[in-house]
Amino acid sequence: MSIVDVAQAPAQHPISEPAPWWRQAAVYQIYPRSFSDANGDGLGDLPGITSKADYLHDLGIDAVWLSPFYPSALADGGYDVADYRNVDPRLGTLTDFDAMLDALHTRGIRVVVDIVPNHTSDQHAWFQEALASGRGSSARERYIFREGSGPDGALPPTDWVAAFGGSSWERVADGQWYLHNFAIEQPDLNWSNPEVRADFLTTLRFWSDRGVDGFRIDVAHMLTKDLTEPLPSQAQLDALPRDGMHPMVDRDDVHEVYAEWRQVFNSYDPPRTAVAEAWVDKARVPLYASPDGLGQAFNFDLLEADFDAGQFETVVRDNLTLAETSGSSSTWVLSNHDVVRHATRYGLPQPARDDSGRPARKHGADWVISGGVTPVLDRPAGERRARAATLFMLGLPGSSYLYQGEELGLHEVAEIPAGDRQDPTFFRSAGTDLGRDGCRVPLPWETGNDGGSAFGFGTGGSHLPQPAWFGDYSVAAQSTDPLSSLELYRSALSLRRTLQTGEHLEWIPTGRSDVLRYRRPNGWEIVTNFGTEPYPVDRDDVALASRALEAGSLPGEATVWFGSHGTD
Ligand code: GLC
Repeated sequence: MSIVDVAQAPAQHPISEPAPWWRQAAVYQIYPRSFSDANGDGLGDLPGITSKADYLHDLGIDAVWLSPFYPSALADGGYDVADYRNVDPRLGTLTDFDAMLDALHTRGIRVVVDIVPNHTSDQHAWFQEALASGRGSSARERYIFREGSGPDGALPPTDWVAAFGGSSWERVADGQWYLHNFAIEQPDLNWSNPEVRADFLTTLRFWSDRGVDGFRIDVAHMLTKDLTEPLPSQAQLDALPRDGMHPMVDRDDVHEVYAEWRQVFNSYDPPRTAVAEAWVDKARVPLYASPDGLGQAFNFDLLEADFDAGQFETVVRDNLTLAETSGSSSTWVLSNHDVVRHATRYGLPQPARDDSGRPARKHGADWVISGGVTPVLDRPAGERRARAATLFMLGLPGSSYLYQGEELGLHEVAEIPAGDRQDPTFFRSAGTDLGRDGCRVPLPWETGNDGGSAFGFGTGGSHLPQPAWFGDYSVAAQSTDPLSSLELYRSALSLRRTLQTGEHLEWIPTGRSDVLRYRRPNGWEIVTNFGTEPYPVDRDDVALASRALEAGSLPGEATVWFGSHGTD
């Protein structure tokens, strides 16, 4: 099968213009260091991904998005990039990358790579040069260096707090300070510097020339900054409106950068795609998703919603409207490498919410701190709701982004000893947040862990410890079970390819506030019962269900798909 074949809407349902592949893709996120380890060093690698190309094909996804695989000292799980145009030697070589790309393309799977433009690693040649070159050098102009405050400049220039905790400034040997909005090892780049801009264009061309199909843009809303003196305090920053003129986030001028990137994307045939990770006010998302910019943007609203009909409906309505504004398609996400897995979130009590309606604290963080003890996790309920939510999501118009392991119904791993933790959040937050390691534990492929096979991950153990219960969730355990999560995902993704046509959605009244029903073109209908009372349904052409229907009723906490190929 050629890559072009899978780009089109199914041939049986022709539409006038073939839609670009990304508009309604199922994109599977691979966190390469935790996917599959071919060389037995305990870290997943690119040959490991290649060895699972058939698994990915059989899963039925349209594309993979690879979290960073570049050389990195791993201060932030690879999001501290030391060289944007190479492969971490522990993960392979550029030749291995080409082989992986070829293996995936041959199977009709597109490849999206992660670009991290807000900051480099402190190991990047540019930052090392900046340290060596000293004050006022052009090397320092690629980053954001300032003199300190207080006597002898011994205090940070401002009281700004980094995303992972602690000051946003770090002092270097000659007394200057550099800005890092994330970990200390992630110095922010200076996007006012034309050399920085030019270098990222080179990187985009480098991977596009190799054949990658698109890019996921890390913290896309933070590149450009207005650092006119005097610099504001953190309280002042917090109080400023996020209207495009905020000194630090979501500035209008960041779109000048993306307009330039778009020229690069469009110089390829087919044009390369991009999706923005942009944590911005809803109304500003379309700027990132614009066809003149990155083209698509994540919305994390489903990921922050409770398993609740009202919340899910609002999220879908809002985001479909936003997608209309930009002309892009919407994205949907339930899990990724930064949050507690959704099977676990849905098995925990619903989080308290702040005035804006967002979870006041990261959902599941307290459960992780307790080592997975309190509040009590209701595993079956979490898994039941996760299955229902996933089928709800996969029915929606737009692209669904899946995170490795969610197809196994995997739970977050809470039982990671402090000595094994890797996330900078753990080291910088003084115990208030143990971080994101629990969703990054290497995948279980086999049921057994004999002889250090790391449940089939690799012969060299696993860089984050896997719990004993992983075997029950392994690919091998589930592949033989028609009721398993893995088989549900496989069936859903395969059916989705045949049922999915236009991007339209029509809500159908259900008479119940805890049941949502929507219809897609071609007679495809999705009904989700968020409550516990069975919901009688009036169709019998069940295509797939997260729980078996009983006497014509959809059980509680379940989703059913109706439809068959060719209905109208
Ligand atoms: C993004 C990534 C996250 C990373 C951060 C800094 O939010 O998803 O994993 O830590 O950016 O690069």
